[in-house]
Amino acid sequence: MDKHPVEQWRKDAQQPWSPELCQAVMQTRTLYDDSLVLPYTVPDPLKCFDGQAVATPRDWFAKRRPELLKWFTENFYGPLPPRADQVTYEVVEEAGDALDGTAVRRQIRLDFAMANGRTHSAMMLMYLPKKANGEKVPAFLGLNFKGNHSTVVEEAVLVNPRKTDIPRAESERRWPHKDVVQRGYASVTCCYLDFFPDSTDGWGESIWSLFDDGLKGFDGTHPRYGSISAWAWGLSRLLDCLETIPEVDATRVVVHGHSRLGKTALWAGANDQRFRMVVSNDSGCGGAALSRRWYGETFLVMLNVFKHWCPEAARKFIVHEPEMPVDQHELIALAAPRPVAVASATEDQWADPKGEFLSAYYAGPVYQLLGHFEVLNRDMPRPGECVSGDVSYHYRIGVHDQVAFDWNHYLDLADRKV
Ligand code: GCU
Repeated sequence: MDKHPVEQWRKDAQQPWSPELCQAVMQTRTLYDDSLVLPYTVPDPLKCFDGQAVATPRDWFAKRRPELLKWFTENFYGPLPPRADQVTYEVVEEAGDALDGTAVRRQIRLDFAMANGRTHSAMMLMYLPKKANGEKVPAFLGLNFKGNHSTVVEEAVLVNPRKTDIPRAESERRWPHKDVVQRGYASVTCCYLDFFPDSTDGWGESIWSLFDDGLKGFDGTHPRYGSISAWAWGLSRLLDCLETIPEVDATRVVVHGHSRLGKTALWAGANDQRFRMVVSNDSGCGGAALSRRWYGETFLVMLNVFKHWCPEAARKFIVHEPEMPVDQHELIALAAPRPVAVASATEDQWADPKGEFLSAYYAGPVYQLLGHFEVLNRDMPRPGECVSGDVSYHYRIGVHDQVAFDWNHYLDLADRKV
């Protein structure tokens, strides 16, 4: 490609979206050449929409942080639902000798109920270190894609009813429960489909249906809601549950997520300040990557392929990303001063590694304002390199995934910061 594809994208955006158009955009007019990225200005996170400078932590927390959170809510991800009227937790299975005798395994069902009779459930899987000597442990909490049973080989882990086709332990490489437990953390997960089946017609079976009875049969982009907010809500409800677990220190929970669930982890960390650390693994477009670079995936593809992820409001930025008054470094900054780790992979250019790094870098001034100085400098780490601090980044050599290299960095960071 020797010419910037934006003119063609503008035409594409006028066409009815189809698999053929999607393929054409992805294969022939996606920008993978950094020298073609158009000049752009990254919005100053320390300047309010009315032009006022954010000079003190108080300005940040009283004015700038709320206005950014409001902006992302109203213009991109939509609101998180409220809490359910009632929730109960039921331990459905427990074993004291899990993971070769190193852990206690507990499977807990979260039952949400509304005064009007509607109900919804989600199944949490938790491993607790056995050698905690009665001390409360910190935890890693993340949603999984394919069911709790896909994360581990243990027969007793319940098969997710939506994922009966997925063999046990299929995603085990992404879920090193035993290592996490050995490092002294609880390892907690739940399938994201328990909160929103990830399809354009998933509404009727999502947690949104607890609050809105107009969703049965709804298909596509909703005027107000999105699934990323539903998944983020799920993470907060799992954290509520962790608050009731005597063995867990729920003030020290790391929320992590890969890819679309990395976008979700960032949004959860922005909304729920109880999360002590936030991990974005290869989250890309609508996650850690700066949108205005237009490198790799853009909103044209994301919001047309995954119509349920974001509400209508986000669509106005399709092929208009550079006009947004914010960018994703400000989503990262919403976690400040809590530690954030952003990770990319060399063979995941779709997620724009450089854009992910730059977001992490441009969040730095907010951390500095809040008295946290371990932030990134302007040089992007080389492939295989990790930079650790209040804002961290690593650039793994390999494909789009969350594997041992990523986990080692996250665990090392948690050891220092959580
Ligand atoms: C697609 C999508 C990405 C997303 C990824 C994933 O590639 O375009 O935005 O992050 O799926 O969740 O695996």
